[in-house]
Amino acid sequence: TYWAKVTGPLVGRRFLVTAGGTKERIDPVRFISNDSSGKMGYALAAAAADQGATVTLVSTVALPTPAGVTVVSVSDAREMLAAIQTHFADLDVLIMAAAIADFRPAQVADQKIKKTVDNDEMTLALVKNPDVLQTLAQTKKQQLMVGFAAETQNLLANAQQKLTKKRLDMLIANDVARADSGFGVDTNQVTVLQPGHAPEQLPTLAKTVLAKRLIEMITEKLK
Ligand code: CTP
Ligand code: CA
Repeated sequence: TYWAKVTGPLVGRRFLVTAGGTKERIDPVRFISNDSSGKMGYALAAAAADQGATVTLVSTVALPTPAGVTVVSVSDAREMLAAIQTHFADLDVLIMAAAIADFRPAQVADQKIKKTVDNDEMTLALVKNPDVLQTLAQTKKQQLMVGFAAETQNLLANAQQKLTKKRLDMLIANDVARADSGFGVDTNQVTVLQPGHAPEQLPTLAKTVLAKRLIEMITEKLK
């Protein structure tokens, strides 16, 4: 058994962190997903627990469970939303590090889709997934909402729009076009946006080190 940390600035605070790319089913053996590894979300959950927070990690991946963190496994966007909704009212902080698929197949085939002989093309109909942050923003009270923005171009302009549109308290803008930043790698280079603050560009850091920095910044906002 693990004994919850009884010291640290986040004792008594409830965090929920999401991690990994969602998997949107096509048929029993196939899905749509993305390159998110879940590493940033796991590092954030570990860093928050290390400061004494009660942490739930809603995850699509099977990385080692950080000490003191409760993991809830989900696959697709709608399962992720439902898992968060069961905890949302009691949260102090929600950190959406997960890469949620924007669209899912309109239908999930019961059986493996066959490669038919006479068709050289096939079309997969997709429908939009719910926007988790925007859905939750409708019932937001005390919760501090932190989002991530993965961008390959116009990083700051796109990120600033997301901060406003999703009514976030903090947005971590992530340049995923760089080799040393974003999906899969152990380092990340981000710019932190907060309403009414100038963008704060951080150096390239190990995800574990960046997670500590971000949790410190969130701890400051909770005061
Ligand atoms: N997000 C969400 N629900 C979705 C899609 C994204 O809550 N259906 C969250 C992500 O977890 C992330 C933030 O919104 O914290 C930004 O995700 P991103 O994919 O960058 O933004 P989108 O609004 O989906 O816009 P786009 O993909 O067109 O850039
Ligand atoms: Ca998206």
